[in-house]
Amino acid sequence: MRAVVVYESMFGNTHVVADHIAQGLRPSFDEVAVVPVAEATSELITGAGLLVVGGPTHIHGMSSEKSRMSAKDRADEDDDLDLDPDAEGPGLGDWFDAMPDGSGRSAAAFDTRLEGPPLLTGRAGKGISRRLKRHGYHLVAEPESFLVDKANHLVDGEADRASRWGETLTP
Ligand SMILES: Cc1cc2nc3c(=O)[nH]c(=O)nc-3n(C[C@H](O)[C@H](O)[C@H](O)COP(=O)(O)O)c2cc1C
Repeated sequence: MRAVVVYESMFGNTHVVADHIAQGLRPSFDEVAVVPVAEATSELITGAGLLVVGGPTHIHGMSSEKSRMSAKDRADEDDDLDLDPDAEGPGLGDWFDAMPDGSGRSAAAFDTRLEGPPLLTGRAGKGISRRLKRHGYHLVAEPESFLVDKANHLVDGEADRASRWGETLTP
């Protein structure tokens, strides 16, 4: 059985988390693909026994065209921030608009967000899981958040936690 991890990432953190989740999934699946939104074709995801989808939290929820532009501006201004190679591709919002029905297949959602209570930071994983459900997917886990600090660096230990979370996901 194949698992597919789809990520949107502006500064690379959600990409790193997606790679670690995939590492955790590998022992349980014949094949695990990790792809940015632009490469998450309908053919790839409809053939997956488990679909895991994640993105950065922007303005308390999923990114928008505007927030993605603002992230790009931040990276242009801050020498310490690099754009992920696929950052300028499509975001999860457009991808969900064109998504085929999940027909009851298994899925899970994750996000990256700032440290702090989710009531204050918001979390994109909630919106992602809501969209997965609306598209007919069966959620196998509660949405999970992985944390970055104010400088947009993944907090120590979060990559390992992402691997461990991946290990817990079964279709
Ligand atoms: C425009 C913008 C808005 C953001 N808004 C929030 C927010 O409301 N809550 C939060 O926790 N983090 C917020 N962040 C921080 C992001 O969650 C963080 O940059 C992201 O998780 C890093 O993931 P990435 O490296 O994959 O882009 C925001 C970042 C940007 C660029």
